[in-house]
Amino acid sequence: MEPAQPPTRSTFWSRRRVLGLICSAFAICLLLYPSSPSDSEWVIVSLPDAEIYQCDPNEPVKSVAIIGAGSGGASAAYYIDRFKHPCSRVNITVYERSSYVGGRSTTVDVYGDPTEPVELGASIFVEVNKNLVSAAREFGLATQGLKSKIKELPNTLGVYDGQDWVFMGSESGWWTMAKILWKYGLAPIRTQQLMKKTVGAFLKMYDEPHFPFRDLSQTAYDLGLTEATAATGEQFLQAKGIQGAFGTDIIQASTRVNYAQNIDKIHGLESMVCMATDGAVSIQGGNWQIFDGMLKASEAKVLLNTSVFDIYRQSNGTYAVNALSSSYPTGIDLAIHDTVILAAPLQFAKLSLTPAPMNPPPEIPYVNLHVTLFTSRRKLNPQAFNLESDVPTTILTTTPKTKANPPPFYSISTLRTLTNPISHQREYLYKIFSPAPVSASWLHSILTPPLASPTLNINDRKDISWIYEKVWQSYPYLPPRITFEDVQLDEEGKVWYTSGIESFISTMETSSLMGMNVARLVNDGWKRERMERMLVKLEREDKEKPVEEGRESAEGGDGGAMGQVPMAGKLSGEEL
Ligand SMILES: Cc1cc2nc3c(=O)[nH]c(=O)nc-3n(C[C@H](O)[C@H](O)[C@H](O)COP(=O)(O)OP(=O)(O)OC[C@H]3O[C@@H](n4cnc5c(N)ncnc54)[C@H](O)[C@@H]3O)c2cc1C
Ligand SMILES: *[C@@H]1O[C@H](CO)[C@@H](O)[C@H](O)[C@H]1NC(C)=O
Ligand SMILES: *[C@@H]1O[C@H](CO)[C@@H](O)[C@H](O)[C@H]1NC(C)=O
Ligand SMILES: *[C@@H]1O[C@H](CO)[C@@H](O)[C@H](O)[C@H]1NC(C)=O
Repeated sequence: MEPAQPPTRSTFWSRRRVLGLICSAFAICLLLYPSSPSDSEWVIVSLPDAEIYQCDPNEPVKSVAIIGAGSGGASAAYYIDRFKHPCSRVNITVYERSSYVGGRSTTVDVYGDPTEPVELGASIFVEVNKNLVSAAREFGLATQGLKSKIKELPNTLGVYDGQDWVFMGSESGWWTMAKILWKYGLAPIRTQQLMKKTVGAFLKMYDEPHFPFRDLSQTAYDLGLTEATAATGEQFLQAKGIQGAFGTDIIQASTRVNYAQNIDKIHGLESMVCMATDGAVSIQGGNWQIFDGMLKASEAKVLLNTSVFDIYRQSNGTYAVNALSSSYPTGIDLAIHDTVILAAPLQFAKLSLTPAPMNPPPEIPYVNLHVTLFTSRRKLNPQAFNLESDVPTTILTTTPKTKANPPPFYSISTLRTLTNPISHQREYLYKIFSPAPVSASWLHSILTPPLASPTLNINDRKDISWIYEKVWQSYPYLPPRITFEDVQLDEEGKVWYTSGIESFISTMETSSLMGMNVARLVNDGWKRERMERMLVKLEREDKEKPVEEGRESAEGGDGGAMGQVPMAGKLSGEEL
């Protein structure tokens, strides 16, 4: 197994602290081998906090290929750069099949107007999402809360089962409402406590001794989180003494809108994640800007419209990465890299990897989620939802208590109002998540009908002025499980995989956490290589130049008493 790593703190470790730790390992070398004339070609790097490094000018440039410019890939690039040793020379290339950065986090422009972007994929993150929150802050990205600000519509959230409204309330603070406590007794409070405990255990994944983690299954087990992943949400709640309709009315409304899965199917950990909604925000203009900021900060070379189709190991241990790219005259891009990070679900990456992974990530079923965005000057029709007055701005769904079918959608949100650039009329922007495409006739059926009037002009009769439909392979189906795919795919630590974390928790933040984790493991590998190179160099010099008597004491090093060779042995035992 891996030797213990030097102590580290958290995602928020300052660069200075990380460097300090790496340097402390180095300092031992410097003490042992005080500078001698032959060291003079080494470059001395002095940092603001006066830590001194001796960099090998021949330190090989490490070339990293990252496949995928979503949260996982962008975070891998960003944290490789942040964690890297000051002597490290790293060249990162990010390959992205699409024409944009962000992957499943992307916006489309309402009416084709770039000043009116709307999230098409991942739309919210929460205050415990450390990586996203700190990156948004670092890049100066403004966040916005979820409340829709539509004057004439009360800001409400309702849960509809196709016939009845099982819950109707204010969109914020659904924990604290007297109403919910009245209806569900202690279940909401118990759920909140359980959620806090579960999230607390999850947050330990950002810190030593759990971070970095080579084996997600082991780490999940160590943190007690497999208890939650081993059961369905329903079973997990029951085991924790949470009973009654709260699970199906409220928690399931959340698992359905977030994961298109019911609480008797999705595992307990993901069910808890669905209830962790404190401080939910999105980035104004689009969450993808976080990942764009990360890629820019990392100075990675980002190749858009570039689809990797083949990765193979060469005899000297490097990897050839073959991509189809519209930006190359030949259409093919072939490059050699030392490290490959696959930051997309392998089953959708459509690439061959040679040699095959030690434990090939199996194909897992993903949800086909239909997202429909559209604008209309019409409000939702209360009659279509068994209501007499205004329909809630956020409609979630649950399964009915009878044998009837649930509604044909997971959620309908009235997001905001905007002005149609052609008619100049004020319109509503709607978003629907559904398991199947929604038909035009159904869309018309949920909108208030136009008033029958002979004076109505054609624009007034047109209910839907703009529509955008997208089918995503949005997230895996998340049945209970206790093992998760490998982080490291090869034996040597050159090929890494971030998407295995999705069967554990599938969010922008967890992909980012895995990108950060892989970045750290990759840097740790380079650190070991650097130490080995240094020892080889020093041993070689040692042979060339016999030790001068008394030199160590003259330099004031306390390594003198220990002798060099045994100390080097000790060092390699501890640090390598
Ligand atoms: C509709 C929807 C709503 C969601 N809501 C939320 C939410 O509110 N909050 C939240 O946190 N999460 C949400 N998610 C989940 C979230 O989007 C994902 O968990 C996260 O974005 C995954 O990031 P990733 O980097 O791991 O993968 P991806 O974002 O899928 O990135 C992988 C990238 O790799 C590229 N790629 C794949 N194969 C190749 C290849 N061979 N060569 C080159 N490039 C390749 C792809 O084009 C893609 O850009 C939602 C997802 C969807 C679809
Ligand atoms: C870094 O990568 C770029 C593009 O892949 C390449 O042109 C450049 O030569 C590389 N630099 C080094 C030092 O390898
Ligand atoms: C990628 O392809 C799209 C569509 O073909 C094109 O509009 C865009 O300019 C391309 N981007 C790059 C960076 O080549
Ligand atoms: C490894 O081999 C490839 C091709 O065979 C070559 O392009 C590359 O430079 C070699 N890399 C090293 C580090 O020897």
